Formats: sequence, C-alpha cells, structure tokens
Amino acid sequence: MKVEVRYHSRGGNTKRLAEAVAKALKVTARTVEEPVEGKADVVFLCASVYAGSPDKAVMTYVKQNARDIGRLVVLSTSASGKSTHAKLKAAAEDMGVTVSEAYFHCPGAFLMLHKNRPNAEDCQRAADFAKAQLK
Ligand SMILES: Cc1cc2nc3c(=O)[nH]c(=O)nc-3n(C[C@H](O)[C@H](O)[C@H](O)COP(=O)(O)O)c2cc1C
Repeated sequence: MKVEVRYHSRGGNTKRLAEAVAKALKVTARTVEEPVEGKADVVFLCASVYAGSPDKAVMTYVKQNARDIGRLVVLSTSASGKSTHAKLKAAAEDMGVTVSEAYFHCPGAFLMLHKNRPNAEDCQRAADFAKAQLK
C-alpha cells in the first residue's frame, strides 16, 4: 500500500503534526506544492484552518491530484477547535475523491492561544490515529 503524508503550514504547527505522522508511518512528509509521485492509496492531508477554511493551496492539491488519490484522511489544527474536515470532504467528494469519515484535530498555537500546541502528546495521538487508519 502506498501512503503519502502531505501538508500545508504557514507557521509550522501543521508541519510538526505531519512530520510526526510521517515518522510513525515511515514515509516523508511533503508539502502540497511538491509534485505527486504516482498514485497513492491513502493520502494523509494535514491542512489547518485559515479564515475559516483550508488554504487554497490544499484545495489546488486535491483538485490536481484527484485521480491519483485512493483515499484522503484529514488532519488539522486550529485556534477555535473547528477542523477543515467538513469543507475538505465536501470539496474533495465533488471531485470524486473518497474522504474518510474519521479525522484528527487538535488545537494549534495562534497569537496568545494554545501555546506550544500541537505538543508531543498531540503528535503522538495524531501518529496513533494515522496508524489506525491503515488497519
Ligand atoms: C492567517 C491566519 C488565519 C487563521 N484563521 C483561523 C480561523 O479562522 N479559525 C481558527 O480556528 N483558527 C485560525 N487560525 C489559527 C490556525 O488555524 C492555527 O494557528 C494553526 O495551528 C496554524 O497552523 P500552521 O502553523 O501550520 O500554519 C488562523 C491562523 C492564521 C495565521
């Protein structure tokens, strides 16, 4: 089974989460801007909330690679507690991409909120979540 971990991160929080997941799955975390390497059975898409939505770069990645993605699994962080899962699922399914119902979300540091999140425990939970999605 081919597994990819992709992320978009403006400030580093989502990158930290993606790298923890990638390490647990023994793959390399890559940004959504990097070219795709063939088809992937499962793509763990780490995409956090900016102005209420996933970044445009994430949407572009899904659109450009829809045919090569077997299943998307969403992981995210945000200040509010709200995930990008619902918006990504709706948009990706419109493009014919299967998106798992299960998703991972944790707080992400923003201004004075959620200092140091995601922390080591968040990263461990994300890694455990990702491994469980492959069983
Ligand atoms: C420009 C900007 C807009 C944001 N908008 C929201 C928002 O609408 N809702 C929310 O809950 N968090 C919002 N956040 C907080 C981010 O989701 C949170 O800091 C996240 O961990 C950022 O991940 P990153 O460090 O990988 O970019 C925003 C952060 C930034 C920088």
